[in-house]
Amino acid sequence: EYLREPWRPRVHFTPERNWMNDPNGLVFYRGEYHLFYQHNPLGIDWGHMSWGHAVSRDLMHWEPLPIALWEEGDEMIFSGSCVVDHRNTSGFGTAENPPLVAVYTSHRPGNQSQSLAYSTDAGRTWTKHAGNPVIDLDIAEFRDPKVFWHAPTEKWVMVVALSAAKRVQLYGSPDLNEWRLLSEFGPAGVEGKSNWECPDLFELPIVDSRGEATDETRWVLEADFGGGGVGGGSGNEYFVGRFDGNQFTCDDPQRRSQQVDYGRDFYAPVTWSDLPAEDGRRVWIGWMTNLQTNGTPTSPWRSAMTIPRSLTLRETGSGLRLAQAPVRELESLREDAVDGTNAAVRGKQLDIVLEVTPDAGRPLVLHVLEGPDETTRLVYDPVDETLSVDRRDAGFDEFHDAFAGVYPAPIALDEGRLRLRVVVDRSSVEVFAQDGVAVLTTLVFPGPESDGVRLDAPGAEVHRFTAWPLRSALTER
Ligand code: FRU
Repeated sequence: EYLREPWRPRVHFTPERNWMNDPNGLVFYRGEYHLFYQHNPLGIDWGHMSWGHAVSRDLMHWEPLPIALWEEGDEMIFSGSCVVDHRNTSGFGTAENPPLVAVYTSHRPGNQSQSLAYSTDAGRTWTKHAGNPVIDLDIAEFRDPKVFWHAPTEKWVMVVALSAAKRVQLYGSPDLNEWRLLSEFGPAGVEGKSNWECPDLFELPIVDSRGEATDETRWVLEADFGGGGVGGGSGNEYFVGRFDGNQFTCDDPQRRSQQVDYGRDFYAPVTWSDLPAEDGRRVWIGWMTNLQTNGTPTSPWRSAMTIPRSLTLRETGSGLRLAQAPVRELESLREDAVDGTNAAVRGKQLDIVLEVTPDAGRPLVLHVLEGPDETTRLVYDPVDETLSVDRRDAGFDEFHDAFAGVYPAPIALDEGRLRLRVVVDRSSVEVFAQDGVAVLTTLVFPGPESDGVRLDAPGAEVHRFTAWPLRSALTER
């Protein structure tokens, strides 16, 4: 039954049934990646917000677990994060069995405050803290706490949004219970954006323009806004700067932001906490949707997460840019490679690599999910220097009149070359351009026969065009 659902992604996480929005509580503990998510356990539309739960050992195969945190009375469980309290600073566990602590927003009519819950059995069962809430400013729009341990100053730090004011606040705590305001940031970035939600603050290694490691780092502050995005609807922005344990200072004195994703369908990304230090990577996952058009036509589930993505900061001609790449575990799902320059490629689940020198005067088009009378076009225009995803003819789009459209990202060629990595999975297309410094995440709802791939690139020189069909990571249940 489950595997016959045509738009159900095979390599992206989806809830078995019902509504999902933001990823929550991403944490790694004892060999398991935990993924919690905003979930309506009772229906396919937003409501009854609770934390759904799944775990994975490889970020690809997910095992669903029972609801971790249920709505209760007039309290809904909004977005938040999880940490491993290694030193048992909270007292919720023991030093030998450190607790997992979830920090989430308690949403009540007219009030949002920050609360705790904990687990001492690897996330299988959860107890809401008797002393909730731990921060209450007595205001309506105060949400989405993201907590991390700041080793140099030996304390917990929380970044949380004063959403309507488009500001974030930073709090510090010795024990996750007592919080002290450290500083604020914002409003900043592009003006006229409606609000800020789901902030994250994390340190990233800098790689040079060829992708080689350096020994420098910077901090990234990311936030999401419900309206005013470049492609219409919701979007996200990030700032690059420094963090001294108390205050985030943007490198750019004018506090200009950068765009996280140029597609329409990327929202509320957050990073995993407590990834193994020897692994040394920073990974995030986002909700693959746009708030404007999130009544997507799937059933009995609604919404998927993105592919988990590793993050770095990359030096570019215009400064440091966030670079995103699918985590290496995706490659474990690859079947035998097909060389697209001399064989026809087909598939609804594909990992594609294209490296090409476009003709100087003519656009090139990579078609994916192409069928008898529909296609999703990835168009590089060398004159405008833009890469666009065009989903006007991609399939079913009648569910919302703002769904069909063309979404461009500014992309300069690198020594004349365009490099694309494209992950196609049934109802989504994620494009990572120029080593991930520009990303476009887009939903599409193609018909059952649309599985073609075709490169239409007159005058271009193709250096590499390889596609790997991807095995399904879903298991029959
Ligand atoms: C973002 C958001 C969060 C909030 C949650 C409620 O999509 O609005 O700010 O915590 O969803 O479901």
